[in-house]
Amino acid sequence: METTTNNTRGRIRPARMGDVRAIHTLLMTFASRDLMLPKSISALYDNLRDFIVYEEAGEIRGICSLHICWDDLAEIRSLALVEELQGSGIGRQLVESCLDEAVSLEIGKVFVLTYQADFFRKLGFVDKDKQELPHKIWSDCLNCSKFPDCDEDALIRILSKHPYYSAP
Ligand SMILES: CC(C)(COP(=O)(O)OP(=O)(O)OC[C@H]1O[C@@H](n2cnc3c(N)ncnc32)[C@H](O)[C@@H]1OP(=O)(O)O)[C@@H](O)C(=O)NCCC(=O)NCCS
Repeated sequence: METTTNNTRGRIRPARMGDVRAIHTLLMTFASRDLMLPKSISALYDNLRDFIVYEEAGEIRGICSLHICWDDLAEIRSLALVEELQGSGIGRQLVESCLDEAVSLEIGKVFVLTYQADFFRKLGFVDKDKQELPHKIWSDCLNCSKFPDCDEDALIRILSKHPYYSAP
């Protein structure tokens, strides 16, 4: 991700190698509460270029990733913010940074599997039948303890009418 976004307290920037342990700690905090899927340190290295972080005073306080799935489709994953900062608009900024990157990559649709459907609805995502998502996305779910009975909601945000555009 190319851009860095500053707000009054901190900044959103692409993740770096030195962030991996802090990203893992934040992610596992919420994974242990069943709010998001756990990820190994190894998986974080594999996907580090997907991640952006919100950094404040040198500390990683928020994370979000954009994973390319298919020719016109990407997924928002691993969105989390430390509890003290929840409700301060930073979650929205993290998602919007990922959407900006999707636009710059000419990706027309971004989806999310989440327990926070209302948050994503506020950001312009609409409900989507999981069965209509490409089969490829489920390959990443094979190691999930809930597979195949995923109880997360699927939502999608249409960004543009790509040549391969199809209705949500
Ligand atoms: C979900 C999360 C990232 C939201 O970030 P946040 O910074 O608290 O959210 P924001 O302040 O940017 O909220 C944007 C809007 O969504 C609303 N909102 C935030 N969380 C919400 C939720 N759980 N349900 C419904 N609405 C929510 C806010 O009230 C705000 O509405 P407004 O525009 O009318 O003022 C954050 O609460 C979090 O880290 N939760 C724990 C981990 C988690 O569940 N991650 C989701 C994995 S997909």
